[in-house]
Amino acid sequence: MPRLDRLPPYLFTAIDQAKKSAIAAGKDVVDLGIGDPDMPTPVELVEVMAKSISNSANHQYPDNKGSDSFRKICATWFEKRFNVKIDSDRHVLALIGSKEGLAHLPLALLDEGDEVLVPDIGYPVYTSSTLLAGGNPVEYPLSEIDGFLPQVEAISKLVTDKTRLLHMNYPNNPTGAVAEGKLFKQMADLAFKKDFVVSNDAAYIEVNLDDSKPVSLLQHSDIEIQPVIEFHSLSKMFNMTGWRVGFAVGNERVVSALNKVKQNIDSGIFTAVQQTAEYALGNQFDDLIAQVMAPYIPRKKVIMDALTEAGISIFPTNSTFYVWAKVPTDETSMAFCARMLEEKDLVVTPGNGFGNGGEGWFRISLTAADSRVDEAAERLRSL
Ligand SMILES: Cc1ncc(COP(=O)(O)O)c(C=O)c1O
Repeated sequence: MPRLDRLPPYLFTAIDQAKKSAIAAGKDVVDLGIGDPDMPTPVELVEVMAKSISNSANHQYPDNKGSDSFRKICATWFEKRFNVKIDSDRHVLALIGSKEGLAHLPLALLDEGDEVLVPDIGYPVYTSSTLLAGGNPVEYPLSEIDGFLPQVEAISKLVTDKTRLLHMNYPNNPTGAVAEGKLFKQMADLAFKKDFVVSNDAAYIEVNLDDSKPVSLLQHSDIEIQPVIEFHSLSKMFNMTGWRVGFAVGNERVVSALNKVKQNIDSGIFTAVQQTAEYALGNQFDDLIAQVMAPYIPRKKVIMDALTEAGISIFPTNSTFYVWAKVPTDETSMAFCARMLEEKDLVVTPGNGFGNGGEGWFRISLTAADSRVDEAAERLRSL
């Protein structure tokens, strides 16, 4: 079958279409569907960018792998946050957003027919990028009873001599589940023993609504010998989704394989964007992150109160800006979300859009203005 035909259908098409029609019909639609921060990038960062962009030295091709200074700042930030020393030359690679790196990773690791272990439920890119590289996704379940965490024993039974990669994503989209160090260690040990790469998508590692410390895969593995890689992103950290900047940190062999693919596909991140990212990850990091995350805390409370009143239960977490909630009726996720839009003019995401394991759940994103979140809460209360 042609590769493109193997890509799964985009499950949100029907909801997207219904949303557009409702807006066109003049309805006051509240959209808590997409996980794209509504708030602007902090003004300090925009000012750094404004300066950088007028420097003509930045107008030429950037260094494909990321500038020395960018990779050094990433390594320093990583050590400060996770207490792990990494070598900016061997272990860090700049990315045009973490999605870009995640999507290219299978091209670096797979031959036709190789297998990739992907979570059901999960960010759809893990599956689509496997298929585009000619590989076969093998799903492993994430279920509520296990706190939406992978079970190492069950996973080791899915490993074959064709397994090349396993995707994890903690903190997790859509559930908000957080992994502990022990799980990362078990996965890294299994990957080392069975000779496949383990990846953690850490796009939400700084999106914490309390003061808990984020955990990295690299704190619980040996970057020098184990085939590990972790994907970081400035998108959600600093309301920079449109800027397209992130980085991978990992084992030298894995990082250089990904770099080899990228050298043949893209030409790096605009240097002015890298310079802005350096500022953001540098000395101002703590203040900036506190400023960006603060609005989500009251928003979450407003939504949680409304859900409680409506008798809707949720998966408890203080991580990510999502609320993973149970469909309170016997409708499918899709039917429930379609009805929310039709009756309440409220967009939320059906859980099965992240895989069959999400059936019976829906995701609420807190990335809308406070007044819109308040309005959504009113509508949820009247369910
Ligand atoms: C789980 C997860 N990983 C990665 C990404 C990609 O983020 P970016 O490419 O903006 O870094 C997203 C975006 O929503 C995501 O939800």
